[in-house]
Amino acid sequence: MKTKALYTGSFDPLTNGHLNIIERAAKLYDELTIGIIVNPSKKCVFSLDERKDMIEESLRHLKNVRVDCFSGLLARYVNANGFNVVVRGLRATMDFEYEIQMAQMNARLFDETVETVFLMTDPKYSFISSSMIKEVHSLGGSIEGLVPGEIIRKMDELIGDK
Ligand code: COA
Repeated sequence: MKTKALYTGSFDPLTNGHLNIIERAAKLYDELTIGIIVNPSKKCVFSLDERKDMIEESLRHLKNVRVDCFSGLLARYVNANGFNVVVRGLRATMDFEYEIQMAQMNARLFDETVETVFLMTDPKYSFISSSMIKEVHSLGGSIEGLVPGEIIRKMDELIGDK
């Protein structure tokens, strides 16, 4: 049976921490979908189309990875699209409490064949979040090495325009 995995998030923007999880998950599963969520509780700097373009450009080297967007309940999207695995990254103990709650609630909502699988974030990236990246960048600090180069270029362009 082919394993279809999903890695989801707001990705506003994608960071090297996300990329590290994606590259590892792409080796573990036959197909990996990056599901960009329209999260009404988060005010995103980049539009959905901008995030999708930036992610696609950064993932060109990964042949079994595609990018999609969705809104609403994660479990509905997972069940409707026949995913077997939902991959989550754990950066530190601070993520654990939130993630276990979410995984346990999702376990009730997912079809029986779906599992949540956790990958530990590479310690090089365990301190970063998309919000921190945006803050440092908007104040003129360097985000070199923390975000794919093509995304830094796009952030320079887009933030200059906004
Ligand atoms: N490296 C670097 N940063 C990381 C990271 C990693 N490996 N993993 C997570 N992060 C960062 C993200 O960039 C994000 O930063 P931000 O808050 O500054 O934007 C932060 O950690 C939180 O990430 P995440 O938990 O993935 O949040 P999200 O908003 O990107 O995604 C969903 C949240 C999509 C998983 C969750 O809201 C959801 O499932 N929503 C759907 C509605 C639903 O079904 N609700 C019921 C759930 S039981």
